[in-house]
Formats: sequence, structure tokens, C-alpha cells
Amino acid sequence: MKTNESLIAERNKHIPQGPFNTHPIFAAKAKGAMITDIEGKEYIDFAGGIGVNNIGHCDDEVVKAIQDQAAKYIHTCFHVVMYEPYVELAKKMNEITPGTFPKKTMFANSGAEGVENAVKIARHATGRPALIAFEDAFHGRTLLALSLTSKMKPYKFGFGPYAPEVYRMPYAYCYRCAFGLEYPSCELHCAYFLKDFFNTHISPEQVGALIVEPVLGEGGFVVPPKEYFKVLKKICQDNGIIFIADEVQTGFGRTARMFAIEHYEVAPDIIITAKSIGGGLPLSAITGKAEIMDHPQVGGLGGTFAGNPVACRAALAVIEQFERKKLLQKGEEIGKKVIKRFREFYEEYSIVGDVRGLGAMVGMELVVDRKTKEPATAFTKQLVAKCREKGLLMISAGTHSNIIRPLMPLVITDEQLERGLKIIGEGLDELNPS
Ligand SMILES: Cc1ncc(COP(=O)(O)O)c(C=O)c1O
Repeated sequence: MKTNESLIAERNKHIPQGPFNTHPIFAAKAKGAMITDIEGKEYIDFAGGIGVNNIGHCDDEVVKAIQDQAAKYIHTCFHVVMYEPYVELAKKMNEITPGTFPKKTMFANSGAEGVENAVKIARHATGRPALIAFEDAFHGRTLLALSLTSKMKPYKFGFGPYAPEVYRMPYAYCYRCAFGLEYPSCELHCAYFLKDFFNTHISPEQVGALIVEPVLGEGGFVVPPKEYFKVLKKICQDNGIIFIADEVQTGFGRTARMFAIEHYEVAPDIIITAKSIGGGLPLSAITGKAEIMDHPQVGGLGGTFAGNPVACRAALAVIEQFERKKLLQKGEEIGKKVIKRFREFYEEYSIVGDVRGLGAMVGMELVVDRKTKEPATAFTKQLVAKCREKGLLMISAGTHSNIIRPLMPLVITDEQLERGLKIIGEGLDELNPS
């Protein structure tokens, strides 16, 4: 019989080390918020395939839609023979994304590809090459997306040269403010800094787009102050710069709104979604103002698999299930429970340096010392491993990999959620941080 250990040996023999693995287990089946490994051990899933399973593993209606579509046709290539699910999903995305202006949507296969296409469109529409991105940002691993990504090791190290014309400014990371200020007395200096940035880094007339995550995902679930994006958007607008919201991780209900930028009452010029949109199938969407989206010439955009019909049908089912199961409301409730428990951990353990969140996107930053804020990277790794031993799958985040970022499916039951949070408490207790 195959075991995790025997399969890991096979994996190591045939697969390079680059594609990383957080947990030394192989999946046998998954349903809702639970994963069973090939040895029959059950785990509560607080990782959600890195934010892909907001709808839960193998949602019945999503599976039905996939099966139904697969029995009809799996691939014709939208650029060769068109199909209805692509059009239907584009229409739906134009309806549910923020902004009352006319919109259009195209599809790609992954978050990184969504980012690449958004940038291509923005450059084409403005005729300007430069891009502004942020410290601690993650936008993917393809060359342009990687150039926009901030974290050096392991993501960027050794893979240069990076794409040119990327300019990076600090994010609104209040816990580690780059300017040493405090909110609200800072008066949003980090947002207004964009105006200074135009004098010291890149002239606004050369900037095609500013790309930003409404809440940092891989960067550690960092939630900017509520006025932050209005300021950035206004400065972009005044200078003819396209404002791109990368909602690959924040989107599709993670923050108790369909899109996190809704909390900030800002309508991006272009919004990128991926991860949970496809219910587990690879799909990304690029939605934007119609006149911007229509700028590139016929044939300038596309991809063989982009907007695969099975993935589009899955996404339509995901959207339907979100409404039917009231998952935004559920996300709000999950977020409240998680943040309450994490705040209790903060009171109990000095290793917890910061707790922050928006909806069900709640992070807990671990530090060796609350004064120096030295990241507790090694401890975070131990905690993730300890929780796995106890039946909970988690992943960390942050430039220093010291932030716990639960991405549990929003269909998780109260009992599973409580059990998962209890395991984190036990893990903190047993590892006994000072
Ligand atoms: C905000 C953000 N953008 C882009 C990406 C890249 O997505 P993908 O891994 O599907 O290429 C990710 C992935 O984690 C992400 O979190």
C-alpha cells in the first residue's frame, strides 16, 4: 500500500525541488472544509489550496456543472469556436464587480496571467510603459508578474533580470510603517507619498498603471486604513494612471464582500480575479472599463486554454452558490470568530505581535519580541507543523513567513472552525512561547 512516505520518495525522484510543498502528505479526497490523506487521516483545511476553495472542496453544484459541461465539450478554444459559458460569465463579472460604468471581461488561466493581461491592456490604453507596485506585494511568478512581486527569497532570487519599468513604493503596513508613523495621526502619509514618488522615482506621464492588492495576501494579510485607496485612486485619476486592483486572493468573498475593494468604496479601472472564482479549476478574469478593455487590437489578447468552458461553468456555479448559501454573511461570521480568538491569543502569548483582518481574511503576525518586532519565522514554521500533527492544515505568509493566514473554506461548519482554532491554541500552548 502506498504511504505518504513512499509517495514523497517518488515525488523527490521525479519532481524538482522548486515546486514547493508545505505539508508532507498526499490527498485522497476532500469535501467542504475537510481533506483526507492517503493514509486515511482527516484534516481540517485552513489553507483552502491557498485561497482557492472559498466555496469548499467539491461543492455538489460545482461538481455537477463540471460534469455536465465535460460531457458536452471540454475545449474548442474560444478564439476558434466560441461558446456560451464564456459570454455568460463575462456578463456576470461585469455585473458583480464594483463600478457602475460599462465594463468588459476577458479570461485567462491563472492569477499571474490575469496580472500580465491587465498590465498589457493598461499599457496599450495609455501608451505608457511604467508600473507602480508595492513593497510586500505578490502578483505571481511569470516574468512580468514576478517583477511586480516584492519578496526576494524564494520567489525572485536567481531568476533575474526582471522586467523593466517597475517602480515600488511602501504599502500601508501600519504595524511596520515604512515612515515610522502611526495611524491616524500619520494623515495617510503613505498614500500621499505617491505624489513625492512622482518627483523622486518616476514621472506620472510615464506611468501606465498602479497595481495593488486591496489587502496583502502573500504579504501577510495587511489591511490598509479605510481612506487609503480613495487617496491612491484620486492621485491616479488626476494623472491619467490606470488603477488596477489585484483581487486574486482577496476576491470572491474572502473579505465578506465579493471584492475587498468594495470596503474602500473605490471602483478600480481594472480588477483581476482568480483563485476561488473557478471553484478549484484554473481560471482568472480581467474586468475593466469597456473603453480600456477594448483598446488592444483584435488578436492582441488571448490564450489557447483561456476561459476554458468547464472552468467558466464551474465559476457560474460558484457565483450561484455564493448567493444561495449566503457565503458573504457566513464569511463575516467566520471573520468575527477568528479575530476574537486571535485577539485572545494576543492577550495570552507575547509571541503574537499583531492581529488584523477584513471579513474572513484575518492574519496573526508572530514576533520574537513585541518591542523589536523581530519576525518569529522559525516559530511560525513549528506552529504550522504542530497544528498539522493535530489535524489542522495551515499556511504562513509574509515577507518573513511569520504570519498565520487562515484561508478556510467559507462553508466550514461551526464545529470544524472551533476545532481548528482550538488546535492553534493548543499548538501555541505546547510550543510554549515566552
Ligand atoms: C494577489 C495575488 N496575485 C496574483 C497571484 C498569482 O496567482 P497564480 O498563482 O494563480 O498565478 C497570487 C497568488 O497567490 C496572489 O495572491
